[in-house]
Amino acid sequence: MKKSVFAVLLLAGLWSCGKKEDAGDLSGIPYSPTSYKLEVPAGWPQPDLPADNPMTKEGIALGRKLFYDPILSVDSTVSCASCHRLQGSFTDNSPVSTGVQGREGKRSSMALVNLAFMNRGLFWDGRVQTLEEQALLPVEDHLEMDENWPMAERKLQRSTHYPELFRKAFGIQHRSEITRTLAVKAIAQFERSITSKDSKYDKVLQGVPGYSFTDDEQVGYEMFFNISKTLPDAQCGHCHSGALLTTNQYLNNGLQAAAELTDFIDAGRGTVTKNQFDNGKMRTPGIRNIGFTAPYMHNGSLKSIEEVVDHYNSGGKYSPNLDPLIHQVKLNAIQKRQLLAFLNTLNDSTFIQNPAYRSPF
Ligand code: HEC
Ligand code: HEC
Repeated sequence: MKKSVFAVLLLAGLWSCGKKEDAGDLSGIPYSPTSYKLEVPAGWPQPDLPADNPMTKEGIALGRKLFYDPILSVDSTVSCASCHRLQGSFTDNSPVSTGVQGREGKRSSMALVNLAFMNRGLFWDGRVQTLEEQALLPVEDHLEMDENWPMAERKLQRSTHYPELFRKAFGIQHRSEITRTLAVKAIAQFERSITSKDSKYDKVLQGVPGYSFTDDEQVGYEMFFNISKTLPDAQCGHCHSGALLTTNQYLNNGLQAAAELTDFIDAGRGTVTKNQFDNGKMRTPGIRNIGFTAPYMHNGSLKSIEEVVDHYNSGGKYSPNLDPLIHQVKLNAIQKRQLLAFLNTLNDSTFIQNPAYRSPF
């Protein structure tokens, strides 16, 4: 009896292996991706969209799942979203972030906002150029997810639901075609879909009926962008300008004291360009949603927006390549309050509630 059951199972096994459609064949699942048009508000720069990774609804859906899934970490405890949380405008609200097994990172997590429009390098020091390249790194970073890509690929290939999602996004024929290249393409598509454009600041500038600055906000706005001759220039708008509120330049805004160019604790841009004069410089971040992203700066050293304003107002710490725009601004207490009022208009609360960006799990 036992023997015959075994024989039947064996035969069935042989038969299914011999069939053309083995368990990994996905060609029966329809592949008809829907293209996704990224909305570009009036006055914004054109997004930087790579020709070899067009955005589709299916690609974004897959990328969102991968972004929120700890499957890409060695012990399935950490996902991209562990350090990039929607409530924090995709930061983690810690001075430095924490990866697998509680390992502390070296820098503060960055907000992921309007990344499709940032085209001068990624990370605080700009060491990678594209979102696809970027997404490869955290997975294998010892302090972050500490997985290796061959293993991550195998986990995705064996998963019960990912093969179908990769098929729908990229038209693969077989689960063995799931690769890191496709995984990071999907993640990059999701990231490019993350846009924030509905702050009070945007609405006032666009002239949306019912939106105007309060008196304090208006004064803060004029100081930020140096619009009025009778008010002090708070300097901010020279570096945080345009629709993205950044020029994306690498600058030293006086956070680290350094007697010599070789004395910076974190050399930032200098480690990438190998030019000593770039030591201590970081990419100027867009400052939308800063009400949600505390603490601030690459080292998370400033705990509140008040501390940020005090930092700039005091002229920052000395180093040989401190940017010339960083010097004592001498705002009085009322003007500081007015600048803060303006900075709060940069918060987009619809963004952190956007269901399209939430965890799909
Ligand atoms: C352990 C925490 C951690 C995890 C996990 C993590 N990140 Fe990050 N992320 C950071 C930190 C910290 C930085 C800034 C690092 C630097 O500049 O050196 C960063 C920077 C970035 C940036 C650059 C943003 C910009 O404006 O330049 C992107 C994009 C990003 N992460 C996406 C991801 C994706 C996608 C994943 C998952 C595959 C991920 N991160 C996983 C902490 C994390
Ligand atoms: C010389 C150019 C420059 C000027 C002027 C400037 N910033 Fe910055 N800002 C930077 C750079 C560069 C960074 C990143 C520095 C770092 O982390 O090391 C930064 C970071 C920030 C951050 C932190 C964002 C984050 O994600 O952590 C805030 C907030 C900010 N600036 C607000 C302001 C305000 C408000 C003013 C005016 C009072 C101002 N900045 C003036 C260049 C500038």
